[in-house]
Amino acid sequence: MSLHIAAKPGDIADTVLISGDPLRIKHMAELFLEDAFCFNDIRGMLGYTGFYKGKRVSMMGTGIGIPTTTLFVHELASSYDVKNIIRVGTMGAMQSDLEIGDLVLAMSASSDSSMNRLYFDGLDFAPTANFQLLQKAVAVAHDNTFATRVGSIFSTDSFYSEQENRWEKWIAHGTLGVEMETSALYTLAAKFKMKALSILSVSDNLVTGTSATANVRETAFSNMFRVALEIAE
Ligand code: HPA
Repeated sequence: MSLHIAAKPGDIADTVLISGDPLRIKHMAELFLEDAFCFNDIRGMLGYTGFYKGKRVSMMGTGIGIPTTTLFVHELASSYDVKNIIRVGTMGAMQSDLEIGDLVLAMSASSDSSMNRLYFDGLDFAPTANFQLLQKAVAVAHDNTFATRVGSIFSTDSFYSEQENRWEKWIAHGTLGVEMETSALYTLAAKFKMKALSILSVSDNLVTGTSATANVRETAFSNMFRVALEIAE
């Protein structure tokens, strides 16, 4: 048991899929896992362990944003010795040729969060995905013919902003999109010697102004969970 996770030692598998919305986790656990049990409900951050094609896998909600994600990833690593964390979530696309529902495998994550600058004494750490997980995810996505891009993303601390042309430079530098967790996940994975990957789907496009219908969102989520479960080690 850790401060925010009620699981007993051994309750959590080596690979944990994390996502912002705990109810989405419940739904995906019901859809994909066999013999699943709930290992956490503290603060409604539901977590489940079960089997996917015979592999023992866990899934857990984290809430939105870097502080809450950092807290849970830290506890999963330090109290439960988790080896692999795969984030499954959504992002706002920054490139006009990304369609709603497309999958994005985040190779690296820039950020406006001060977390790393404080930790690394003002210098820039480069949060990077685990290459093996990334390579496997590319193969699974292609085998399933899911429209998929690999590249850099941006993790922000503020969903809302009054800044005009906020993303101009990031768009010009080929950033694929913005979400709110990955830079922290990749940094902590490096610290705790875990493997990490973020698999994201485009829920809205900041350039074209389009956004996902409930149907597209649901399909994209199932596709992402399928990729994550297939690459789980
Ligand atoms: N900003 C931040 N996070 C997001 C967005 C966004 O536009 N869309 C999905 N996650």
